[in-house]
Amino acid sequence: MRINPLTGALGAEIQDVDLNNLTDRTREEIEIAFHEHLVLAFPGQSLTPSTLLALTHQLGGPGETPYLQGLTDYPDVVPIIKAASEQSPISFGSGWHTDFTFQSAPPSRTLLYAQQTPPHGGDTLFTNLYLAYDALSEGLKNLLAPLNSLHSATRSYGPNSTLQNQLENMVITKETKEPPEQAHPVIRVHDVTGRPALWVNPTYTVRFENMTAAESKPLLDYLNQFVTQPSFTCRVRWQPQTLVMWDNRCTQHCATSDYHGYRREMLRTTVKGARPIGLTG
Ligand code: SIN
Repeated sequence: MRINPLTGALGAEIQDVDLNNLTDRTREEIEIAFHEHLVLAFPGQSLTPSTLLALTHQLGGPGETPYLQGLTDYPDVVPIIKAASEQSPISFGSGWHTDFTFQSAPPSRTLLYAQQTPPHGGDTLFTNLYLAYDALSEGLKNLLAPLNSLHSATRSYGPNSTLQNQLENMVITKETKEPPEQAHPVIRVHDVTGRPALWVNPTYTVRFENMTAAESKPLLDYLNQFVTQPSFTCRVRWQPQTLVMWDNRCTQHCATSDYHGYRREMLRTTVKGARPIGLTG
């Protein structure tokens, strides 16, 4: 197995691995690389919905996927499709986010497999939330350490959301009533590495617990901008048959909407995760 880091911040391309035939030893090596690089890209993988799901089971089993319709025979495998003919240039997942943080136990990782990619564009950007935490001042670390923030699906899937109008080839449902808010620590301690990560995101984090949205906004805006500074990021350029696996406990990601007029088709699964824990337990 060859590991080529993508940037100094996070991400690595893994060569000479067949994800359909993993030995225990290779799986252990992948896990070590995953916790070091947080985002792993495996080019040249020949996966079907069935084998992608089998891989997801090997990594801990699928998480619960609300709002997005999966394949008929594989409801845990969600097609992420933008067709060449679509009116809107907007791609699914094109705001910075960590997957499904509005859940009580959000997915630990996500697997995304490219079936068809545009000739250029459609990259996915990632940022390292450990580095973001490490770069905060001691004063701000201490201020954030005991705080919870509240996460909600409202902006993407709430009664007033418009996401589904922009994604003609995906079946997306939305809430008829305001969805619930879910409290999570602002500083999340990774359950495997023990490292703290700055764990808020602009898509799902709506406010700090016990504060109003207006009171929360200035600091959340600052943190949301802080975590995406270029030196914390990497960019994955997709080819058909690339599988990318990312860690939702310590990264955010964002799809780019720069391939209007071309088709991009992916398959996505998530791996179930644990309830996040903070620095204070
Ligand atoms: C996602 O946010 O899950 C999709 C990202 C992408 O399509 O690049």
